[in-house]
Amino acid sequence: MIDLTGQVAVVTGASRGIGRAIAEKLHSAGADVVLVARNQALLKETSNAMGGAMVMPMDVSSADEVQVGFRKIIQEKGKIDILVNNAGITRDNLLLRLKEEDIQRVLDVNLKSIFFTSKNVLRPMMKQRKGRIINISSVIGLMGNSGQSNYAASKAGIIGFTKSLAREVGSRNITVNVVAPGFIETDMTAELPETVQKEMAASIALGRFGSTEDVANAVLFLASDLAAYVTGEVMNVTGGMYM
Ligand SMILES: NC(=O)c1ccc[n+]([C@@H]2O[C@H](COP(=O)([O-])OP(=O)(O)OC[C@H]3O[C@@H](n4cnc5c(N)ncnc54)[C@H](O)[C@@H]3O)[C@@H](O)[C@H]2O)c1
Repeated sequence: MIDLTGQVAVVTGASRGIGRAIAEKLHSAGADVVLVARNQALLKETSNAMGGAMVMPMDVSSADEVQVGFRKIIQEKGKIDILVNNAGITRDNLLLRLKEEDIQRVLDVNLKSIFFTSKNVLRPMMKQRKGRIINISSVIGLMGNSGQSNYAASKAGIIGFTKSLAREVGSRNITVNVVAPGFIETDMTAELPETVQKEMAASIALGRFGSTEDVANAVLFLASDLAAYVTGEVMNVTGGMYM
């Protein structure tokens, strides 16, 4: 049984979907969870369901908002032990039709944001000589997908970032890992055309889509002492869609 009692965990994109499941999982393992996302009302709802967890609304693609928000979290909680970078968006289109703003926004929210959030937790983690950073990428960052070049580039970028940071901070006992989910049943995947959903389902070895809890379980493992010697790793949670 994993026990995270006494540990402060910040989860971005925690208002719904995978982020919410991760927050609930860490909370049920005893962590003091701080919920980050844009939508205050949705955050409050998640917080209430978890018995009043701290919420910190921010746009993670804004360096200033992240700095201010994380300062407040550290002021209130005194430390951050676990950071889960989960916030992410899609703006799908074939490259020929992809607008510059859709390329920029996806890179900013999915990739640039993790530079900002990670930067703001490193000092407190270094000070206590312990930390866990877990970045949510995607199987699309490994396989690519037609119509998702911006998203795939952002998710592949997360992997390069993770491996580099893992080398930078390993000597301080901070681990940095990636969880790469496959096809998970959420609002994000519900938006995909039915034909794409069927194609993807046919390629999954376990023959079913994943649940948000499947992803949260992988995050819980990487956040725990059981994963103390795992860093710079990409853990695929794809049901064998990619191996
Ligand atoms: N759903 C899947 O099948 C799947 C598969 C692979 C990877 N992922 C990744 O998992 C993560 C969560 O996906 P989901 O399906 O739960 O998505 P979702 O759309 O249901 O939730 C996304 C969350 O991110 C937050 N968010 C978005 N932009 C933000 C911003 N600028 N600042 C702060 N918060 C912001 C939203 O408020 C929301 O809480 C994403 O990074 C996604 O790329 C999802």
